[in-house]
Amino acid sequence: MAGSGIRVLVAEEVKSFLPYVEVPADVEIEWLSASQPVPEGDYPGLLPLLSRRIDAAVLDRLPRLAVVANYAVGYDNLDLEALRARGIAASNTPDVLTEATADLTWGLILAVARRLCEADRLARTGEWAWHPTLLLGMQLEGRRLGLLGAGRIGQAVGRRARPFGMEVTYWDLLKQAEFEGEVGARRVESLEVILAGSDVVSIHLQLSDETAGLIGARQLNAMKEGAVLINTARGGVVDEDALCAALKAGKLRGAGLDVYADEPQINDCLKALPNVVLLPHVGSATEDTRRRMFELAWANLMRGIRGAPLVTPI
Ligand code: DGY
Repeated sequence: MAGSGIRVLVAEEVKSFLPYVEVPADVEIEWLSASQPVPEGDYPGLLPLLSRRIDAAVLDRLPRLAVVANYAVGYDNLDLEALRARGIAASNTPDVLTEATADLTWGLILAVARRLCEADRLARTGEWAWHPTLLLGMQLEGRRLGLLGAGRIGQAVGRRARPFGMEVTYWDLLKQAEFEGEVGARRVESLEVILAGSDVVSIHLQLSDETAGLIGARQLNAMKEGAVLINTARGGVVDEDALCAALKAGKLRGAGLDVYADEPQINDCLKALPNVVLLPHVGSATEDTRRRMFELAWANLMRGIRGAPLVTPI
């Protein structure tokens, strides 16, 4: 039953992190599970998961909403125009998930380059013997990593490339001078050129009108023969049918994906290929990181409901 406190709607799936934050005496939490629609009501704060679309129709149900504290660094689930039009503040969770996501990206790079999932499947059959050409993969040393996007996560992925002996290039609107100095990374000004020159292409772009479907048949065709494509950003950046065709044609050696255009659905064509490693959007899934994401989202929520400046506004 509703009391007289400040009511906030919080994704039920983050409930286990609640002991890590302080809940002010005047704040009342209403848990909202992913399967429930947003209820109508006078809630000044909302903390949703990335799987919940927050658009005009949802906002119309929440006339007193002051803040949406997204539990994710990506915010393609938020209709920013609709939020702006209503004067509602919004925040995301940058920084706290950078290292976990970069680690996972490297997990995928290694898994695809060295065929770890194929090897695991074969080992379990018991029907194998050591052989000089068994499951040969791509040696990373001396190869070139091409980062599409060199924001926080792209740079963290780039920093991890040095110990593997990889050369690092990046494609980004901004020149990242410090990153270049630290990692020896080189900026490439055209998408086509970085695609054509990279042995491993790793995507670290936000999903937006500009990046939706950015990697389609033409771009995949521009990639180096036998290269690897990794995506831990947003599925919608890649045309999955075109990717599957490029893999089937042998143009690419393999792909490692943590994100999909229509989550939780995964393209059947990709699922049928042995040289694709598929993960269920677990880039930031470490205990520490998911807790820190909650702490940050909660801090934003608490500030937003009181009209204070957000910690990490969008
Ligand atoms: C994000 O935060 O945007 C990731 O996709 C999940 O942590």
